Amino acid sequence: MKHGLFITFEGIDGVGKSTQADLLAQALRTHGYKVCLTREPGGSAASEALRQLLLFGHVPFSLRSEILAHFAARFDHVERVIDPALREGQVVLCTRFSDSTIAYQGYGSGKGEQALLSFINMLNQSLDRQPDKTFLLKASRKTTQQRLTERNTKQDKYERAEESFHTRVIEGFEKIAAQDPERVRCMDTTLQSIDDIHKQILQEVLAVCTYVSSCA
Ligand code: TMP
Repeated sequence: MKHGLFITFEGIDGVGKSTQADLLAQALRTHGYKVCLTREPGGSAASEALRQLLLFGHVPFSLRSEILAHFAARFDHVERVIDPALREGQVVLCTRFSDSTIAYQGYGSGKGEQALLSFINMLNQSLDRQPDKTFLLKASRKTTQQRLTERNTKQDKYERAEESFHTRVIEGFEKIAAQDPERVRCMDTTLQSIDDIHKQILQEVLAVCTYVSSCA
């Protein structure tokens, strides 16, 4: 049974998900909340191993096996890290979750979209763990590319993909947000400062935390 609060950050690389998740974790801890800060793919030992394979491995996956590998990582992460933290009443902050699979593998691949979305949906239903709130961060592609260049880290398989893939992923996230406006809060990070965005996110999360009185 779930007691805590499950919040995810979504969007393409370079929109500021990790920055905002880190800032929110610090602020919530200052307010006295217990916070579990985690990421996908990753967050548990098995899931981190799958992350290496999915992002930096040289073995090509078929599309459905890639989706299953993302879900294998997710099931392990949920069972070993996310659900235990939620049972303890913690606020779980996770950069990326199932919406990323829908956007990247479902819409991004551009291959037989509807059949893939049904496949992902079936896995998602058996996972039975959905975020209470999702912050979908957006920025122009020019801005995200500039941020990634400045970051100067090793590019993963998805970052190296062609531009049309990223366009489809962005459109996929838009569709997810349009289908679930109650859960998904869109924020453009191009023109606002990191601190301004953080303050808005914190305010919205604190409002939900107060509402969910079981958050310890
Ligand atoms: P990140 O941790 O730096 O955001 O990198 C994770 C990469 O994996 C990112 O390019 C998006 C991709 N990804 C998927 O393609 N599907 C998924 O389900 C998840 C969680 C991530």
